Amino acid sequence: MRTNYCGLISEQYLDQTVTVKGWVHRRRDHGGVIFIDLRDREGIVQVVIDPDTPEAFSLADSSRSEYVLSITGRVRNRPAGTENDKMISGKIEILAKEIEILNTSATPPFPIDEEGISENVRLTHRVIDLRRPVMQKNLRLRYQVAMGVRRYLDEQGFIDIETPMLTRSTPEGARDYLVPSRVHPGEFFALPQSPQLFKQLLMVAGFDRYYQITKCFRDEDLRADRQPEFTQIDLETSFLTENEIMDITEGMVKQIFKDVLNVDLGTFPRMPFSEAMFYYGSDKPDMRVSLKFTELTELMKTEELKVFRAAADMAGGRVVALRVPNGAAFSRKEIDEYTKFVGIYGAKGLAYIKVNDISKITNGEDSGLQSPIVKNLSESCLKAIIEQTGAQNGDIIFFGADKAKIVNEAMGALRVKVGHEHGEENGYFINEWKPLWVVDFPMFEYDEENTRWAAMHHPFTSPKAGHEDLMESEPENCLARAYDMVLNGWEIGGGSIRIHRADVQEKVFAALKITPEEQQNKFGFLLDNLKFGAPPHGGLAFGLDRLVTLMAGAESIRDVIAFPKTQRAQCLLTTAPNAVDDKQLRELNLRLRAKANENKEV
Ligand code: AMO
Ligand code: AMP
Repeated sequence: MRTNYCGLISEQYLDQTVTVKGWVHRRRDHGGVIFIDLRDREGIVQVVIDPDTPEAFSLADSSRSEYVLSITGRVRNRPAGTENDKMISGKIEILAKEIEILNTSATPPFPIDEEGISENVRLTHRVIDLRRPVMQKNLRLRYQVAMGVRRYLDEQGFIDIETPMLTRSTPEGARDYLVPSRVHPGEFFALPQSPQLFKQLLMVAGFDRYYQITKCFRDEDLRADRQPEFTQIDLETSFLTENEIMDITEGMVKQIFKDVLNVDLGTFPRMPFSEAMFYYGSDKPDMRVSLKFTELTELMKTEELKVFRAAADMAGGRVVALRVPNGAAFSRKEIDEYTKFVGIYGAKGLAYIKVNDISKITNGEDSGLQSPIVKNLSESCLKAIIEQTGAQNGDIIFFGADKAKIVNEAMGALRVKVGHEHGEENGYFINEWKPLWVVDFPMFEYDEENTRWAAMHHPFTSPKAGHEDLMESEPENCLARAYDMVLNGWEIGGGSIRIHRADVQEKVFAALKITPEEQQNKFGFLLDNLKFGAPPHGGLAFGLDRLVTLMAGAESIRDVIAFPKTQRAQCLLTTAPNAVDDKQLRELNLRLRAKANENKEV
């Protein structure tokens, strides 16, 4: 019988006989004595096997990496000077008496403790990858967070109610994953993009406080912080205002950080969406970086410099400056790299001014400003730029000029990148947790592709009191009762107060150009039920994977999901998706327009 986990044997067990079971992490032959580091889920313990115990010695001698062993032996102090203070078991070792090989192992595709293995190799051999201590730690952290959520919400009177996976499409803005129905040829279920409509219906049904930790499915372009199948902490409440919902959910995140990481997040600041875009060009600003935009659109309307003037005069154009303290030291090469970087977001260039001598602000020969653009700007404009950005000698000022969307994205990303690369030594990056609520979102955003207004959050979000009439007359100025929680530049949650009256819901659908027939067809079950005394209600959903990624200090959400998909939406372990039999297709009444590509690249 196992008496102890490897990683938990401390000096407390000195001179006791213990039995441990685990995997051979490392085996070293030290001139007659064999050392085995045995690993289990709690960590590693060092085992010494002496030739004095010939049977154990020969089994240890034949053991290889990842063999599964049972070892019984006596706990003793490690020799002075060989202790490891970082491990619970770092001061002791086990002198083996008996060894049993419970299983052998093929040579693993990579050593468990090797760094820098490519992600494709890791995902193909995910089981081996999951043995790595960091992955064990991440998944355990994830469990602790989920437990913390359940404990907190239970105390607050929330109950967990499951909602269907096979359902109708819910519009969260992504493409649906569809499941063909065998019973109803030609018809499809959609996997839920979120439980949004069901949780609203649960409020109409009188459950008052619902939550669920549940899978959501979205067929969208994947990035480091997105998976096609991800987990939400989803909740909904009746009769509460947005402030009350924000207080409850802020309390939850604070409690979890305290319990799991022993971090006090303090009170979360609240920032209107308009302010976030104005100063940071993003609705999820990373507040660890203190750099801010300076608005120059008005100033550039009277300047000759074409790149700036054109953007300033354009409808929906914007010109901003980003002052970076001590940035005049940036090399040509570095500036070229930043220029390439903003290009990813569609910026056509990255004008800059290096501020060398603030006492010589001229556009002439001996200017204290070093820049490809000063010649083409008036002296009064240059003075205004220096004054408004607060630039000092030794700074650099970057400029973005284009459609607001491009400027915001490009300069917003540059702000974060420069902040991370140079902020710490120059005082504009603080390595602390920076939570934030972004509030007062617009109801609608203009969808350039489909040339129509689309819901910014989702179409069940309530307009702000007094904004109902703006939906038709000036949709761009209509604000929503929506809120996002942001942490270190990641949107970790979002929600809203919903529309609880069928007539208002129909108005929003109309503003979104969803015809009454379409409304009835897609959302009839919601509209019909809102008519039966729907209470005022609202809620929020957190991305559990994102929250845990941040807490774990991981780089990608794939590192906190046991069996994730790749960026190309595949599972390399099971090699899904895969082609299916003709028989299965026939049963589903499906015929393929194109054969699955057998040789697809992984
Ligand atoms: P939303 O679409 O903002 O809101 O999603 C809520 C949170 O889920 C996380 N998230 C994702 N995480 C990983 N991969 C993805 N592909 C992904 N997409 C979203 C984000 C996000 O903040 N029904 C509404 C919530 C509500 O109104 O109550 C909803 O789903 O962290
Ligand atoms: P050009 O006149 O195209 O040579 O550009 C002069 C400077 O302005 C260069 O440093 C460009 O990188 C920069 N630039 C060009 N277009 C833009 C833009 N849309 N926004 C910001 N800077 C730009």
